[in-house]
Amino acid sequence: MSQTPSREGCRVRDSASESAQLVLPHHANVHGTVLGGTVMHWIDLTAAIVANRHCRRPVVTAAIDEMAFHAPILVGELALLRGRITLVDRSSMEIRVEVESENLLSGERRHTSTAFVTFVALDPVTRRPTPVPRLILESDEERAEHARAVERRRLRLERREASTRES
Ligand SMILES: CC(C)(COP(=O)(O)OP(=O)(O)OC[C@H]1O[C@@H](n2cnc3c(N)ncnc32)[C@H](O)[C@@H]1OP(=O)(O)O)[C@@H](O)C(=O)NCCC(=O)NCCS
Repeated sequence: MSQTPSREGCRVRDSASESAQLVLPHHANVHGTVLGGTVMHWIDLTAAIVANRHCRRPVVTAAIDEMAFHAPILVGELALLRGRITLVDRSSMEIRVEVESENLLSGERRHTSTAFVTFVALDPVTRRPTPVPRLILESDEERAEHARAVERRRLRLERREASTRES
């Protein structure tokens, strides 16, 4: 079945992405835990998949909100990445990415990071921002996350405005 966006919009579950990365020695720092920049790369890719699936257009990262690493992920463990779209505006989309570690021997999982990534859809010819399909919210949980995303977007655009004024 084609996964082309319909005229009514796309549901959150239509674009959701879940993946796992096995942390290998070349992903690690000198402490034997994954590099923060590597986790950010995986977050960016997860969010890109979600944004692409939602709009079926070329997309670029516009912003990644401040994020923290709450626990290390060790070599030999899995990094689990779960991406969900939370908000769309005209051409921009906010994607929430949750990261967990999984110890493959014990099965223990720990939440390590939450990231909010903004992607912008581009027209394939002009490479300028282009409208994206609306987001269909199906559950109270999705509506609550969307309401929080509206506030995050407001603060993000305020920060963008302030940094433009400073530069
Ligand atoms: C993101 C980009 C396409 C925005 O282009 P622009 O000319 O500033 O376009 P606009 O001001 O019309 O913004 C387009 C949309 O992006 C959003 N946007 C732009 N910068 C943003 C930021 N820092 N945070 C959140 N949203 C942002 C705008 O709010 C607007 O959203 P809307 O259409 O849903 O209302 C442009 O800045 C760009 O190409 N950046 C480089 C992207 C890139 O190379 N990323 C890879 C990592 S470096």
